[in-house]
Amino acid sequence: MPGPRFTKFDHKPRVIVTRRLPEAVETRMAELFDVTLNLDDHPMSRAELEAAVAEAEVLAPTVTDTIDAALLAAAGPQLKLIANFGVGVDHIDLAAARARGITVTNTPGVLTDDTADLVMALILAVPRRIAEGERLIREGAWSGWSPTGMLGHRITGKRLGIVGMGRIGQAVALRARAFGLAIHYHNRNRLPKAIEGPLEATWWPTLDAMLARVDIVSLNCPETPETHHIINAERLRLMQRHAFLINVARGTLIDEAALVEALEAGRIAGAGLDVFEHEPAIHPGLLGRPDVVLLPHMGSATFEARQEMGEKVITNIRVFADGHRPPDQVLEDY
Ligand code: 8YV
Repeated sequence: MPGPRFTKFDHKPRVIVTRRLPEAVETRMAELFDVTLNLDDHPMSRAELEAAVAEAEVLAPTVTDTIDAALLAAAGPQLKLIANFGVGVDHIDLAAARARGITVTNTPGVLTDDTADLVMALILAVPRRIAEGERLIREGAWSGWSPTGMLGHRITGKRLGIVGMGRIGQAVALRARAFGLAIHYHNRNRLPKAIEGPLEATWWPTLDAMLARVDIVSLNCPETPETHHIINAERLRLMQRHAFLINVARGTLIDEAALVEALEAGRIAGAGLDVFEHEPAIHPGLLGRPDVVLLPHMGSATFEARQEMGEKVITNIRVFADGHRPPDQVLEDY
């Protein structure tokens, strides 16, 4: 097992950035590093990524780049750091990076609140039919108010089941409390009383039991081999017929074909999705459904979050190039 590689660089690190980043971030990177930017922002092809890992000392990728073992096998020995722009690292083969002594960093914390806000937006949008109502007006199909028009479902007093109670899950719980939702969560480990207490949160050691009891399910866990398709046909069957499913985490947490079947069969009441199994492709069975709200992977899409994510990438590169453990190292154990 290769040991840590925290060696001070005697030159500006050679950094390749795979997508356009906020302008101020790119400007600062150009001052600090020997950087190649992707000025037209095209998603890099496999060949371009191979060329990048063969040349870069630091690669700054995003969720749209697949950094698998085969790609890392094409990396030259000069590649020392993958400084990911984003908190999720499921697109990076961490074991392969580790085996090659490549350090991986991410950008936790700075996108938590914005992502949790978008979860709340979907928790409101789906039961209250917000996107449907907006379409009605734009299509010129609204004939005016009526006592029974556009009825949706109250969220106050309902049970929210959060799958994955990390930073984002807890930020969702905090917001949902203010809307009068009862907080339930499934997590490998129960949270300390000091966190559970103020949220009046109920821990469910088994996901299946929680799914059968809550009215809204929000997925807030990372994609890993254990959580892949964590919501599959069987689990959708456990959910209540009036329940809604919200996903602002990773599309691959849900078996999308099974979700479409469950919606078609009326086994759940609706879904709010910001992420998809085969992005940017959307399952055609979702597109025509009024009980589904679809957003284009925009959980962290605020000017502020993207700027701060970029600043974290820069800090991680600078600390690493100074010969120290970068603050957001993902693989802490080597
Ligand atoms: C980003 C995200 O937009 O950080 C993440 O894991 O899903 C989003 O906030 C994207 O992944 C950036 O790579």
